[in-house]
Amino acid sequence: MCGIVGYIGKRNSLPVLLEGLKRLEYRGYDSAGVAVINSDSDIIFFKKAGKVKELESEFNKDLLNGNVGIGHTRWATHGEPNDTNAHPHFDEGRNIFLVHNGIIENYLSIKKKLSLEGFSFTSDTDSEILTNLVEYHFRHKNDFEVAVRMALTEVEGTYGIACICKAEPDKIIVARMGSPLMFGVGIDETIISSDAAAIVNYTKNVIYLEDGEFAVIRKGGFQLKTIKDEHIMREAQRIEYDLAEIEKGGFEHFMLKEICEQPESIQNTYRGRINFDTGLVKLGGLETVKDKLLSAKRFIITGCGTAWHAGLVGEYMLERYCRVPTEVEYASEFRYRQPIINSDDVVFVISQSGETADSLAAMKEAKRLGATTVGIVNVVGSTIAREVDAGTYIHAGPEIGVASTKAFTSQLMSLALITLMIAQNKGTIKERELDEMLRELKMLPDKIRQIIEKHKEYEFVAEEFKDSRNFLYLGRGFNFPVALEGALKLKEISYIHAEGYPAAEMKHGPIALIDENMPVVFIAPKDSTYDKIISNIEEIKARKGKIIALANDGDEDIKRYSDYIIHVPRTAPIFAPILNSIPLQFLSYFIATARGCNVDQPRNLAKSVTVE
Ligand code: M6R
Repeated sequence: MCGIVGYIGKRNSLPVLLEGLKRLEYRGYDSAGVAVINSDSDIIFFKKAGKVKELESEFNKDLLNGNVGIGHTRWATHGEPNDTNAHPHFDEGRNIFLVHNGIIENYLSIKKKLSLEGFSFTSDTDSEILTNLVEYHFRHKNDFEVAVRMALTEVEGTYGIACICKAEPDKIIVARMGSPLMFGVGIDETIISSDAAAIVNYTKNVIYLEDGEFAVIRKGGFQLKTIKDEHIMREAQRIEYDLAEIEKGGFEHFMLKEICEQPESIQNTYRGRINFDTGLVKLGGLETVKDKLLSAKRFIITGCGTAWHAGLVGEYMLERYCRVPTEVEYASEFRYRQPIINSDDVVFVISQSGETADSLAAMKEAKRLGATTVGIVNVVGSTIAREVDAGTYIHAGPEIGVASTKAFTSQLMSLALITLMIAQNKGTIKERELDEMLRELKMLPDKIRQIIEKHKEYEFVAEEFKDSRNFLYLGRGFNFPVALEGALKLKEISYIHAEGYPAAEMKHGPIALIDENMPVVFIAPKDSTYDKIISNIEEIKARKGKIIALANDGDEDIKRYSDYIIHVPRTAPIFAPILNSIPLQFLSYFIATARGCNVDQPRNLAKSVTVE
């Protein structure tokens, strides 16, 4: 959600800022802007509604020629996405320039106070108020660092900020409260960002800011402090990040690349965690909480969006194979309903980015109430990964497409591994069943490859239905959450209204929607729910709905009931959601591209939602 970038060093800062903004654009793309301290110490800025490419084409790059600068790509919270509301923001005298992620909750009262002091504002944003608050304190103290600190002690809410000051052009000040911020320490240069993707091209040594911290960064080094002015010593962490992983690598879109990476990403999730000779599953990151996991009276899984859907599959897995009552909570609701949590509970927090504000808040609430918190996270070193009691990385690799694909299937794989580890240790799974699962697991990457090879089939179905206005997705058991995820993928990137339901629920309302214009995707593997699903298909067919069936290879019977069939290899029920999700990802992708939608940057969305 919004991207921040900053540069201070010996290079011309503008190309670094623009490249960084392009890499961060998946986090927000309503508007973009840069401000650079020129060699004559004047600050020149450009900002504009739209994408970084549009910003770039609008201004004369020779005008920005200094080696200190900040930039921002925005996902609007306060104020519509227009040129004025774009960042950087500045005060009337153009002394302070600031970029901000997060929300300043008490901005109206600060605005009132500053207005009485003669300050005026041009935008609708809370960020402009914060900028002016810094300038207000600067006028009183004549010290940039003190001014930032004083302003930050006055604000309530969340922020990741980077700011520069015309009167003190030798530094950038950055701070964090609830919104990610880090800086890469290179040789004679520092690259600031809200996301490692903008840093890795220059250095792999990164310092992450914690909440309540700020840093004064100069050409010769940096000082890390709390906003109460206490000094902090912290070593840079080395991040393992390969630049090729965050590039499209010949694919037309990141989403397509990420769908096609799933044979490898799934393998990376389980690699080194299963001893195929002994059948033992071991998750190094969970060893410290293993006793808690084995004695837990209840599991709670929380997350948002796709991660929540993964949690729903996890509920089926944990209850079926570990026999532990499991609940799944929307992270955004969790802390507002005074949840009953105790020290026998284990709360799993699922998050691709590890930065989702609601998931982070739910995790903190669970911790406060005494539960053991376990992260299932993709981004290494992210806030949730750092703050949980223990965790397991899903190792899906960077996911840039806003619509989550490979992270979802790796979340499912992680949940399956956790389930098997617990079930094995508790003795709640039969050895024969476990052996069968592990045999299936070994074959999964190849089965995913078979699904990817059949992409023409999905493209054909997509072409048939690209103009539909609504879609229904139906599944049962393990595949009910797959239906929810299939519908979410479609609406996110194609803007077609879609709903997912447990197939049998359809009779209780949604069936009223069925007519000859309604495509219904049935997830119908040959498992214990098959006969029931066939009955549900008949019910739709009787009402002239169009049936798209996702069926197992070799299932010829289903032809009788379906208008279109998508075949998927058969696997153990615990892994079926992984395989069944992939054709649905393709279907959404091809429908969206056939409709001319920007699948990597769908309207109104951002990759990581770091505001409540
Ligand atoms: O980074 P997270 O996994 O915490 O993100 C949670 C959701 O915002 C995310 O899954 C969202 O629903 C995606 N756009 C789904 O494709």
